[in-house]
Amino acid sequence: MILCGHRGVASLAPENTLAGLEKAHQLGLEWVEIDVQLTKDEKVVVIHDEKVNRCTNGKGKVRKYDWEQLARLDAGGWFGAEFAGQHVPRLRDYLARARELGIRVNIELKIYDKDNPARLCRKVSKLIDKHGFDKAGLLFSSFEPDCLRYLQVLQPEIPRALLVEHIPDDWQTRLEQLDCAALHCNYRYLSREQAEAVKAAGYRLHCYTANHPDKVKDFPAWGVDMIFTDKPQDYQQASPAEG
Ligand code: G3P
Ligand code: MG
Repeated sequence: MILCGHRGVASLAPENTLAGLEKAHQLGLEWVEIDVQLTKDEKVVVIHDEKVNRCTNGKGKVRKYDWEQLARLDAGGWFGAEFAGQHVPRLRDYLARARELGIRVNIELKIYDKDNPARLCRKVSKLIDKHGFDKAGLLFSSFEPDCLRYLQVLQPEIPRALLVEHIPDDWQTRLEQLDCAALHCNYRYLSREQAEAVKAAGYRLHCYTANHPDKVKDFPAWGVDMIFTDKPQDYQQASPAEG
């Protein structure tokens, strides 16, 4: 079972920052997951919440900030003094560093109330082409089906995953309609039967966000392919060979 560093490595570095990507590299992770959205001037930035309040020293909605204003916020000091000076990265810079480090990136497209899925998808797609990022090193995911529909057209070669909390009864129809390669679900609600059905239908199955190895110890036997975790180091300690 592959370990994917959630929001970088959110237990060891401020989430969704370049410092987190460096931690992932230090731990030898193959994959990280990040969240992206658009600034007011339509730059794609790596940040989870609709507002900057929790993870920076600023206030207000990401979409109200121009990139230059956002870049001036401190996105590391809240986590620890040694991370002061980290800022909210642009996706292009994050992917450039990931490419240097040889880390694959699951880009989760975040859509809040007034966001326009088509605009975000077009911008993400464009920067991937412009900078020539290796499509084999990327995976898209979203709770918003429209994002997956747009990305299917814009970047058909990059695999897509539907994000859900609970696996819905019609999961297979949804995955077929969106031509997804994977289903991403909350580990808490996954049953063995569901896992085996998803795997038998030929999809990859990735579960978020499991921070206690004990709680997912049966998942490899159920066929789960990847776990998102803030604490990959705990898994590596429990079973170094599986890192
Ligand atoms: O992509 C998996 C997981 O990150 C989804 O939830 O809220 O942490 O982005 P969230
Ligand atoms: Mg996420």
